[in-house]
Amino acid sequence: MDLKELTVSDKTVLVRVDFNVPVKDGHVTDRTRIEAAKPTIDYLTEAGAAVILMSHRGRPKGEYDEALSMEPVRVEAEKVLGREIVPMYSNVVVDDAVARMAKELKPGEIGLLENLRFRKEEEANDPAFAKELASLADCYVNDAFGTAHRAHASNVGILEELPSALGFLMGREVEVLSELLNHPKRPFVAILGGAKVSDKIAVIDHLIETCDAILIVGAMANTFLLGEGHSMGASLVEEGEVDRARALVEKAKKEGVTLLVPSDLVVAKSIDAPQTAHTVSADAIPEDEMVLDIGEETVSRYKEVLKDANSVVWNGPAGVFETKPFDKGTVALATILGDLSAEVVIGGGDSAAAIKQAGLEDKMSHISSGGGASLEFLEGKSLPAIAAIEEV
Ligand code: 3PG
Repeated sequence: MDLKELTVSDKTVLVRVDFNVPVKDGHVTDRTRIEAAKPTIDYLTEAGAAVILMSHRGRPKGEYDEALSMEPVRVEAEKVLGREIVPMYSNVVVDDAVARMAKELKPGEIGLLENLRFRKEEEANDPAFAKELASLADCYVNDAFGTAHRAHASNVGILEELPSALGFLMGREVEVLSELLNHPKRPFVAILGGAKVSDKIAVIDHLIETCDAILIVGAMANTFLLGEGHSMGASLVEEGEVDRARALVEKAKKEGVTLLVPSDLVVAKSIDAPQTAHTVSADAIPEDEMVLDIGEETVSRYKEVLKDANSVVWNGPAGVFETKPFDKGTVALATILGDLSAEVVIGGGDSAAAIKQAGLEDKMSHISSGGGASLEFLEGKSLPAIAAIEEV
């Protein structure tokens, strides 16, 4: 059901958000996911609903863990939403006191439950836990795109219990990503990076069927280069994936898809020795050095392909962008994308963080709030939480 069709005035609405955000020294270090859920929360409170937010944080394995409490997130969310959020905490997530607080919540007020994963029943999609959660509210909204690849009590089991709708963030993520994969504006180019080719095999495989060109970056390019016969020195490689990388190259050829790998690379003795960084051609990687970024020639070759693109998806950074100067390739690609008139979609996780670090988030058409979820979407998989809500 569309959120706007759900009757929410004077109702208590349970909203599943993905507030699994990074926290350091008790403070949230990236509030993007909280900001992304704001339109739905604002809509509900303005429409006269009492809103109970619920999320997981980290992987506490079904037991209370103070270090993974929602409290730092609640504090940050109050700043993002500009209003008070009542802590509705119990070590077991739902108990009588929480039920009483839920009853007392007035229209326009917001509460937050404790970390859902303090109960093992959450990840087990246990129907009794779904009922406990549902007993707190009159209806349910799922706005947790980042968790849509999981089938848990708070995003699947609960659908049996309450009238349900997708939130605005979910709606937008599904619309943008489906449109991109099903009806891309051509030429459609994918930039795929990250550390491991094994994490991205399924994405590359699926995108070969949809894209006009695929540009490989990041440490996973090392495995492709190894497959081409280059010696990779001390670089991170997945020797066991070389055959699969070669098979992807073959598949791309067969499908008439341009698949490019880096031709020059920034190498150094180690990540901790940035002063040793220099650029070499892919066939001249020193034995005792490791690849940590793509080189300028590669950036120029990729720019040539990107300049004609009408849609682009990017998942996975080009190098170790958290450490200077190994951020240069990633920043250069982000800058090229920012100058394109094409539709540019950033597939969450590290790539989203890199775009933020480069200060270019406003120049992108869409930055997905999902990490694993957007990856599975790009693999062409149906996400269980979305499939389930579409069925009810
Ligand atoms: C994420 O950050 O990708 C989501 O919140 C899902 O978290 P999980 O991988 O622990 O299920």
